[in-house]
Amino acid sequence: MKIIMLGAPGAGKGTQAKQIAGKYNIPHISTGDIFRANIKNNTELGQKAKTYMDQGLLVPDELTCDLVVDRIQQDDCVNGFVLDGFPRTIPQAEALENALAKLNESMDFAIDVDVPDENIVNRMSGRRACLKCGATYHIVSIPPKKEGVCDNCGSELVIRDDDKPETVQKRLNVYHEQTQPLIDFYSKKGILKSVDGTQPMDKVFEDIVNILGA
Ligand code: AP5
Ligand code: MG
Ligand code: ZN
Repeated sequence: MKIIMLGAPGAGKGTQAKQIAGKYNIPHISTGDIFRANIKNNTELGQKAKTYMDQGLLVPDELTCDLVVDRIQQDDCVNGFVLDGFPRTIPQAEALENALAKLNESMDFAIDVDVPDENIVNRMSGRRACLKCGATYHIVSIPPKKEGVCDNCGSELVIRDDDKPETVQKRLNVYHEQTQPLIDFYSKKGILKSVDGTQPMDKVFEDIVNILGA
């Protein structure tokens, strides 16, 4: 099963993608997580990506497409994968389509997690992230057992550099300009499904499972 998660920054793509990956036993591929891991390890890619990410801008397609095209051809992707945060532009969607076409394959589902802008800024200011294992919390809706500490691995939880309110607003603008057109793109391909992302996390997941099948 090959799935794309669409949705604004903070809509809950990552939260849902992790659960999908667990239930259907397919890898969760988040370009944001890959860039953040590269920043943490101070790689050349990480240094380049950081200058864009900190401003709330998209990392250029040249740095992003090949990375994903390579990743989805690794052995653990034979039964499918869930893409979180990719594609984010029409050229990225076309690059993905072309890469899969060469393998005689295509995407099965594009799931749009729909959350209005008003709800987003609130969510982001409460988000806490573990940079070690990728777990995400919210200080009100999904708090860790011990404040500031990851339940999974015991590492310190941090506020992401791009979760400052002014950067969140910039990311929302970029989303509406560059990423939202993908909703129309996948609707025309006949694989778009929408879920109401303002519902509690478990209800959102239930709706997704109803779409994907048990
Ligand atoms: P990325 O890491 O992908 O960030 P994003 O798209 O902005 O989305 P987020 O990760 O912020 O939100 P999410 O939808 O995953 O929500 P989450 O589940 O955490 O990208 C970061 C940057 O990297 C980009 O700005 C760009 O610079 C670069 N980049 C990445 N991919 C790229 C690409 N393909 N091309 C170019 N550049 C790229 O949830 C948010 C919060 O809400 C959490 O605290 C969570 O606990 C809480 N929450 C989740 N669901 C619910 C719910 N139902 N109810 C209440 N709270 C909830
Ligand atoms: Mg995410
Ligand atoms: Zn952790």
